[in-house]
Amino acid sequence: MTDPIHQLRAREFPWAIAGDQIFLNHASTGPLPQRAVDKIQELTALRAQPWRYTTEMQFDELANARVRCARLIGAEPREIALTVNTSYGLNLAARALPFERGDIVITSDREYPSNIYPWMELEVARGVKLERIPCAGILPDEDAILAALDRPRVRCVVLSWVSFATGYRIDIERIGRACRERGIWFVLDAIQGVSATRLDVRSMPVDIVACGAQKWLLAPWGSGFVWLRPDLVDSLRPVDVSWMATRCSDDFTRLTDYDFTYRENARKFEVITLPYQDFAGLNEALDVFFEVGLETVYERVERLTGRIVDWALGTTDVRLVTPPERERRAGIVAVAPRDAKAASERLTRAGVVHSFREGAIRLSPHFYNTEDEIDAALALL
Ligand SMILES: Cc1ncc(COP(=O)(O)O)c(C=O)c1O
Repeated sequence: MTDPIHQLRAREFPWAIAGDQIFLNHASTGPLPQRAVDKIQELTALRAQPWRYTTEMQFDELANARVRCARLIGAEPREIALTVNTSYGLNLAARALPFERGDIVITSDREYPSNIYPWMELEVARGVKLERIPCAGILPDEDAILAALDRPRVRCVVLSWVSFATGYRIDIERIGRACRERGIWFVLDAIQGVSATRLDVRSMPVDIVACGAQKWLLAPWGSGFVWLRPDLVDSLRPVDVSWMATRCSDDFTRLTDYDFTYRENARKFEVITLPYQDFAGLNEALDVFFEVGLETVYERVERLTGRIVDWALGTTDVRLVTPPERERRAGIVAVAPRDAKAASERLTRAGVVHSFREGAIRLSPHFYNTEDEIDAALALL
């Protein structure tokens, strides 16, 4: 491990140095860096005496969070609406895009439910049909998804960028291009990928990206964002209308003027009041990534996950659930030893924090994990 990252690890994740846990579970809930913990504690103390936690401080934190979330995915701050989870962004997509009765939304089977129920609700409420394309085995079947697009009523494809259980990373370029060519919206649930590998919304053909920050972004529960393509920022109408969605609401002396003109940016989709202290924590957490450098982060995640993949490929009685190709995975590697349940229990007893999903062991290291930690987990498997 290079020195600066080792120092950062000691500073931000002291338990990882001192403790007896090996944390390989970022696909579940990421740990808060120490600087985020300190910031939230400082702000919570101020919050106990609210006159010390000024409106300027609150709104500056949110503005800073939009800048940081935008930087993470190559966007502009005006295209970012802060949200409290991934689900809000997905519901926004389902309800704000102008669907008509009989329209078809395509997704894959085995999606995380946050990406299914909002669209099922759309079926009931507005007569839009959700088609779940069966997986090839347990991985999304991209050929079948593409083959399903060439029908007049298909209006939208919605997929997880990285699958929660298998770690499969969809080919954004391939599916997104096909959507663009047909005038189909492409909505992405990106929570399992952002910060583990590169997402660049300027060069990639996506329309709406929803992302909670509680996993790979190492940020507090209750923080996240949704990104919308600039023309969708302008053309879509908010579905949950906040009192801060309009232009005039910055002037607290004229709130009852009711000037019903939306802001000319994605803030019109934000539902204020948001948890300011948690977004302050998000800002601290994202600064850790910028300090390390995003490319270094991606490279380290690839190195650590690649180590697991190589091990699984070279081990006869372990099935690699995640695809071996670099471009088809991100930070999650799922492996199934012969008795996966027993292996999972063994890991837990030894303090290796992981998940057991769909019959496989899900390991999800982040950039600050070490090769030694990976090897210790693999030895137990
Ligand atoms: C693919 C995916 N989407 C969404 C979520 C969580 O959604 P939310 O942020 O709304 O709680 C998870 C959590 O495991 C997930 O794996």
